Amino acid sequence: MVTLKAVLGLETSCDETAAALVDEGRTVRASVVSSQIDLHARYGGVVPEIASRAHLELIGPVVAETFESAGATLDDVDAVAACCGPGLAGALLVGVTAAKALALVTGVPYVGVNHLEAHLYGAWLQNPDLKLPVVMLLVSGGHTLLVAVDGRGEYRVLGETVDDAAGEAFDKVARLLGFGYPGGPEVDRHARIGSPTAVDFPRAMRGSLNFSFAGLKTAVALHLREHPEVLASEFGVDDIAASFQAAAVDQLREKLAAAADMVNATTLVLGGGVAANSALRSSVVELAETTGRDALLAPLELCTDNAAMIAAAGWWRLQSDGPTPLSAGVNPSARLPGSTP
Ligand code: KG4
Ligand code: ZN
Repeated sequence: MVTLKAVLGLETSCDETAAALVDEGRTVRASVVSSQIDLHARYGGVVPEIASRAHLELIGPVVAETFESAGATLDDVDAVAACCGPGLAGALLVGVTAAKALALVTGVPYVGVNHLEAHLYGAWLQNPDLKLPVVMLLVSGGHTLLVAVDGRGEYRVLGETVDDAAGEAFDKVARLLGFGYPGGPEVDRHARIGSPTAVDFPRAMRGSLNFSFAGLKTAVALHLREHPEVLASEFGVDDIAASFQAAAVDQLREKLAAAADMVNATTLVLGGGVAANSALRSSVVELAETTGRDALLAPLELCTDNAAMIAAAGWWRLQSDGPTPLSAGVNPSARLPGSTP
């Protein structure tokens, strides 16, 4: 077992440049996230070239701010972790190269961290002694996974999306409704005002642990084509946002419930950007209560991309696998490690 305390984590897989200092995989001393949303908003999505260039400019200041906020220096770091995939190749390279350089000059180990496993740690770091097995719903802009966690690094993927990811569906529907980018938080905000029963959108893939969101997005598009007046009316878009969100959350909840029964899970774990959704959070808490389970939700600041989850996952990976060789690169299409489909 490697003895180390403080891990510096770096995350640059998409459009957030983030650094964090975390002690023993659980105590967040500082976590800084610099979002590039403004740079990408005018294009309606993330532009990979712009993202890489912005990461290059931001990574230094973000690391410096992390140390300042933790009251620490590079001398206090026992290991450096960076997200090495999945994500945008050029963007990943910035964080991984910076992490290797820092590890090399300070003589501490480097560890490459899988982004999906890190999202699990966004929730798990709050309660590292959680009794297993748990079932996790990982819902982000790029992924929708239902995972049984049997041990650290022992994952079984029970279901995944057959088309769009949950966050992608929120972002696409937001665009149809004329909201800004990223759309998830906007849909959430409008849905609070609207009626979730205004339109009965389809609940897809009943009876399966896999997910589908493309049909739901198309149903929203068709509804808007048939009722274009909705877009002009003040509360019309709120009703559509609420009805779409209700259908999406129902689908997520139904599969989470079935998976929890299947693996006899002690706890329902929720992570990834869409885990910030207020309706999904209440639905998972309520499901846990009614089925006599616990709910462990990633705190809001650890749902969307951040580096505290990278540092926490890196600490545990160092305990189990040791350092990653500096010759290891990035893997833009990495899957959840150690998982069986
Ligand atoms: O995990 P994340 O930051 O990046 C990826 O790894 O993909 O997730 C970003 C996604 C975006 O699609 C965003 O719209 C969605 O999470 N999201 C939300 C909310 N906050 C962020 N979706 C629904 N409701 C929210 N409150
Ligand atoms: Zn993510």
